[in-house]
Amino acid sequence: MKTFLLLLLSIVFYSCESIEKLAYNLFLEEDLLQRPKAKRCSDCHTKIYNQWKNSRHSVAWISEHFKKSTENYSKVKCLSCHAPYEIEPLEKPKLRDFHREDGINCVSCHFKDSTNSMHGPYEVFSPPHYSTKDINYTKSEICAGCHRETYKEWKSAKVKQTCQDCHMPSKKDNLIQKFPFYLFHKKKDVHNHEILALLTPKDALNIKLLSVDEDEIKLMIENTKIPHNLPTADQGKPKFYIKTEFFLNKKKVDEDLQMITHKQGLKYKKPKELSFFTTEKFNLVKITISRKLSWSNKKETIKTINLKIEK
Ligand code: HEC
Ligand code: HEC
Ligand code: HEC
Ligand code: HEC
Ligand code: HEC
Repeated sequence: MKTFLLLLLSIVFYSCESIEKLAYNLFLEEDLLQRPKAKRCSDCHTKIYNQWKNSRHSVAWISEHFKKSTENYSKVKCLSCHAPYEIEPLEKPKLRDFHREDGINCVSCHFKDSTNSMHGPYEVFSPPHYSTKDINYTKSEICAGCHRETYKEWKSAKVKQTCQDCHMPSKKDNLIQKFPFYLFHKKKDVHNHEILALLTPKDALNIKLLSVDEDEIKLMIENTKIPHNLPTADQGKPKFYIKTEFFLNKKKVDEDLQMITHKQGLKYKKPKELSFFTTEKFNLVKITISRKLSWSNKKETIKTINLKIEK
């Protein structure tokens, strides 16, 4: 009886496996395993492609700033993170020598020569190409080979939230949109591939007045929630601005401005003291914190507060 059951089980198991194999034989699209451009993946992963297309990763090579700062791609040491071949947790990637204009594309993050398959967070049935479940994709370390400084900051913040938790929020959806195939797959958590730079929420910055003198006010500013410097960067030059406007009886009399680069950035839970100066008399200070991303000319306001001064 036991042997019979075992035999039956192995027949069922074997045939499932061979049906799966058959599906891969029938539906495999060989060119997907030869590192095509991102556009090719959009035949099925249409929504993810559209998000990626709007991401900074898709323009990492063709960005005017990058082109200029590498003197028209002549600084070789600069190139590999902007057009990588393959990525590994914590490792600086190697440069690829084709489709460079595609920047950090789908296959550079997902395809591995070692398994001839797409690596991702799930165990999937994906007959057009082989796939391998790889839990590294759910960890911050997958971003760390390129975002080296930010990763160091994140590591020393000792929090559970990963880069993906904040920068790749997920919702239940299909991984593919191609009809009728998506009907055969369960919905899963699909992570936003636009990988937005986000904007610091108001309540993540704590501002306190430390002291007021004739011609100086001292403020304490603390980044209470974001587990990396504000701003954070490796090669980019994002900036934070802290502006103080001095008022006397509702009339603006003066202002002072400080710029914060990532090197002196607001560290996670490490309050920073800043001084602002004026030679005018004042009884109200308006403080505005804003940021500018490295590739943008636009200043975006994060938070404004008014402090009444009683002397
Ligand atoms: C270890 C990987 C890595 C290397 C090597 C690298 N970069 Fe980058 N680069 C990044 C990352 C990550 C960003 C994203 C923004 C940030 O964190 O600074 C970036 C962003 C940039 C930006 C800002 C994007 C924009 O369009 O404004 C510029 C400019 C840039 N890099 C130029 C360079 C130059 C010049 C070099 C060589 C000196 C270089 N990069 C080498 C990883 C790298
Ligand atoms: C002809 C359709 C088709 C094309 C084209 C296609 N895929 Fe897929 N892919 C699938 C299917 C089907 C799945 C499994 C979907 C599911 O389980 O919901 C999948 C799953 C994946 C996964 C998840 C793997 C995992 O283990 O979590 C990744 C990553 C992936 N594809 C990357 C790519 C990349 C990169 C390209 C372009 C080179 C691409 N795919 C092109 C059909 C396609
Ligand atoms: C292969 C290297 C590489 C990997 C891996 C990588 N990035 Fe990037 N990332 C870059 C580069 C280069 C840029 C800058 C592109 C540009 O602006 O021209 C960038 C830009 C960004 C930006 C936008 C910054 C801005 O100023 O708008 C965010 C956010 C980001 N990456 C987060 C992540 C996260 C989260 C991960 C991991 C899931 C990740 N990156 C993986 C290289 C990488
Ligand atoms: C910067 C690296 C990077 C790039 C570029 C990238 N992905 Fe991903 N992708 C990831 C990471 C990381 C995850 C897993 C997120 C998680 O589980 O927290 C993921 C997950 C996926 C998944 C599984 C579903 C999901 O969202 O979790 C699919 C399918 C996928 N990617 C396809 C693509 C396609 C298609 C492209 C190009 C249009 C692409 N990816 C570009 C890093 C990348
Ligand atoms: C708790 C959520 C959270 C986590 C975790 C997180 N970030 Fe951020 N990140 C943010 C917010 C919010 C901003 C926007 C800061 C601002 O206002 O400019 C940001 C900005 C960025 C930027 C754009 C440059 C800047 O300072 O604006 C990059 C690049 C970045 N994060 C990469 C990463 C990487 C890589 C990780 C993981 C090592 C990570 N982040 C983890 C919330 C998070």
